[in-house]
Amino acid sequence: MHAVRAARQPLRLALATPLRASVARAASVPAVRGLATPTSKVGANVSDAPVAEAEQAELPGFKLAPAKSTAMTGRPIYLDMQATTPMDPRVLDKMMPLFTEMYGNPHSRTHAYGWEAEGLVEEAREHVANLIGAGPKDVVFTSGATESNNMIVKGIANFHKGKKKHIITTQTEHKCVLDSCRFLQTQGFEVTYLPVGPTGLISLEDLKAALRPDTSLVSIMAVNNEIGVIQPLAEISQVLKDYAKENKVTKALFHTDAAQAVGKIPIDVEAMGIDAMSISGHKIYGPKGVGAAYVRRRPRVRLEPLIHGGGQERGLRSGTVPAPIVVGLGEAARLCSQEMSADHAHISKLSQRLIDGITKDVEHVVRNGDPKHGYPGCVNLSFAYVEGESLLMALKDVALSSGSACTSASLEPSYVLRALGASDDMAHSSLRFGIGRFTTEAEIDMVVNRIVQVVTKLRDMSPLWEMVQEGIDLNSVKWSDH
Ligand SMILES: Cc1ncc(COP(=O)(O)O)c(C=O)c1O
Repeated sequence: MHAVRAARQPLRLALATPLRASVARAASVPAVRGLATPTSKVGANVSDAPVAEAEQAELPGFKLAPAKSTAMTGRPIYLDMQATTPMDPRVLDKMMPLFTEMYGNPHSRTHAYGWEAEGLVEEAREHVANLIGAGPKDVVFTSGATESNNMIVKGIANFHKGKKKHIITTQTEHKCVLDSCRFLQTQGFEVTYLPVGPTGLISLEDLKAALRPDTSLVSIMAVNNEIGVIQPLAEISQVLKDYAKENKVTKALFHTDAAQAVGKIPIDVEAMGIDAMSISGHKIYGPKGVGAAYVRRRPRVRLEPLIHGGGQERGLRSGTVPAPIVVGLGEAARLCSQEMSADHAHISKLSQRLIDGITKDVEHVVRNGDPKHGYPGCVNLSFAYVEGESLLMALKDVALSSGSACTSASLEPSYVLRALGASDDMAHSSLRFGIGRFTTEAEIDMVVNRIVQVVTKLRDMSPLWEMVQEGIDLNSVKWSDH
């Protein structure tokens, strides 16, 4: 009882500042980062903006910290939004009561705690559905896009394996789709990995040619996590429909991994003819450890569940629905629906500022991806005549990724960039700049300055660069082995 009462206090404070995210954007990201720190085990605080003097009075178990700038904390500028996004403080506000007061099991049918949690979970389901043009009953909550991708790719393949054993995907999918497909190959399925063109787009002709009467599933991502290229989803779906009609076979199901697309660009599952889709909470300013799968009910997409148990989530994903983070995902989705065009305009402006700022002072920079069909919040640049690792090491004050966040543990050149035909050197010297809702102009300007400084310095130390400056064509040079 005591614990509950103590934990309620900061909630009142947190909810008393509903506009803090927009305030934070105007006042720069650090305001969002300056979270208060709990001083006891009683609970966590959610205040993010500087609070008024009167409100700073000591609360049992809590110490309210003032907002800190990145300069004060010494933390690098965060430009890695494809890896993960900071949680929007409004999302945290929405989640907090579910940890402290409304902690019922949403599947409890016999009391108000259960009904209340269930109501909030269903509200979250509606927000996710509204964001993608689906009905709420088509949305299944999962632990994230990795689980949704596994569930959909393996689930659909397994359900149809009696009659159909062929799957089509692309060479540039996220590892969790590629590895699900590789696993299916070990189980006797055949998989076609479509190549991509130099800008990362698939060819619809290639897709048409790969389709077979026994293709059960086509899985093609919406926005690539490394280069931001947007695949033509509606056109892909049309190719599948036309093939089925012409050949009088049942249509292959169309799944898209939309972890990097949902909430960032308009996605409408009905208009785009998508049968199944994967969504991740932490890519849209929501919590980590939660996501969703869109699995169409009419006409019904059939799949074999991966997890068996209590039969929750239409029997497709057993296990108690984690109400607090699901509610966080719902609120993140609601905010994305509300703010998508403002976010997009803000991010596009910063993206252009970054590209212009760098290319104005640094030559021999190649943009990887397709600027005409790309998400502006993902800018992938290769810096010729610079060694990739040295570049990252020298940029310690900026949190960036070279290649995919999920593969950066290995030093292999990015398989996505290689699929575009980039040389190993250019793939190695690539940096991915991920811009988001809370990125500021000042941060972009600081990063531009750092990049210009670092690339210039590294090139000044490079014998290759000296040769280029002297007008020597490096391709004409015969290198000896030792
Ligand atoms: C395109 C894509 N798919 C799937 C995932 C995995 O998402 P999650 O972290 O929610 O499992 C990621 C994350 O990096 C991604 O970028």
